Amino acid sequence: MSARRKFIKNSTFGLWGLNTLFQKEKPMDAPPTPEDLANAPNDEILFQLIRKSLLLPEDLIYLNTGSLGPSTRQVVGTVSAAMHELEANPVGNNWGSLGTRMEAVRGKVADFIGASVEEIILTRNTTEGINLLGTCLDLQPGDEILTTNHEHGGGENGLFYLAETKGAVVKQIEMPLAAESAGQIVELVQAGMTDRTRVVMLSHVSTITGMRMPFEQISAITRPRNILLVADGAQAPGQIRVDVDRLGVDLYSSSGHKWLMGPKETGFLYIRKAVQERIQAVFTRNSNKAYSAASGTRNVATIIGLGESLDLQQTIGIDKIEKRCRELADYCADQLRGRPGLRIISPAAPELKSGIVSILLDEASNRAIFEKMREDNIIIKLLPGYNALRFSLHIFNTRADVDRMLGKLAEVMG
Ligand SMILES: Cc1ncc(COP(=O)(O)O)c(C=O)c1O
Repeated sequence: MSARRKFIKNSTFGLWGLNTLFQKEKPMDAPPTPEDLANAPNDEILFQLIRKSLLLPEDLIYLNTGSLGPSTRQVVGTVSAAMHELEANPVGNNWGSLGTRMEAVRGKVADFIGASVEEIILTRNTTEGINLLGTCLDLQPGDEILTTNHEHGGGENGLFYLAETKGAVVKQIEMPLAAESAGQIVELVQAGMTDRTRVVMLSHVSTITGMRMPFEQISAITRPRNILLVADGAQAPGQIRVDVDRLGVDLYSSSGHKWLMGPKETGFLYIRKAVQERIQAVFTRNSNKAYSAASGTRNVATIIGLGESLDLQQTIGIDKIEKRCRELADYCADQLRGRPGLRIISPAAPELKSGIVSILLDEASNRAIFEKMREDNIIIKLLPGYNALRFSLHIFNTRADVDRMLGKLAEVMG
């Protein structure tokens, strides 16, 4: 059975999917069914169908998946159907059929990132995963945590908590704009390490530049020194392949509501089996299971919806997704290169690229451009702390989206 066919069989598509599947004649403007996606004759049509399966209005150019990704109607339908089922018998279903389906999502996450199910904890978001580390890691005063000046506040929070409560020292590597090669980054990380380094925390894909961290080379340095290597993976799963073993990370924290296009307030934390003894959290005191005495009651519906969005990813295939995001980002960067008044701060080296392109503006105000774009139904990200803008290119975007955004950029910049 093909992956796409299996998706139709296994997926828990909701009321919308079921209704449309059983319609004898589909109205011309009806959203595509999972079967339509499975039978798409080529990738271009598949990506067009995915765009159609979103609730985004047709004239909205959405280039901010890096902040929040849009969910498909199947995912929304699944969440809604699970909520209806729950309310029909809250106790019976929460700890019955829905509870079983929620717990199964841990396995889906594990498969998706090459982990074992015992290594997965379902969280509410990336921040919560790194906070969990921050509240329970045993560090001594003067122990060092190495990170960069390009981290997101959600990733940094747990580190600064460790500094405040344990007297640890947070050291930030000054990251280049734009980075030139994996070798350059590995050298910077190596230069930042000392005998006191206990933790290295880096974003897998940078929220500022979209730079992909060369974790495989970095873990070759940290693992022999027993340094805990932590990945802030908020921007990676759903746009690039994540294989925690190959990356060599000890912890990997991510969100379901960005590139995975899952329900909002979903996430996961991977903790490698070999380091689990060092991370004894209250939240997982008696189990890593989705529901335990320590976790308390969970939102079964959104977690089940995360499972649905992972099914969709597996059906399309992460390599195909990664290729599409990269092609769009390359197209965007090619069109921007050489334009006066701005500088691309996303790396051009193939090993460091992702589906994110960011620009630094010489004089024009990023806020003015951001607002003008929003007035024209183009949603981009204003980067805090820099006079910069970020464009996230996901599978549902097109070259026409990029052209419209670039046309507006040219118009506003004069
Ligand atoms: C690198 C990075 N880390 C953490 C976060 C926070 O994510 P969440 O709000 O899902 O915890 C973000 C959000 O944009 C991010 O880009």
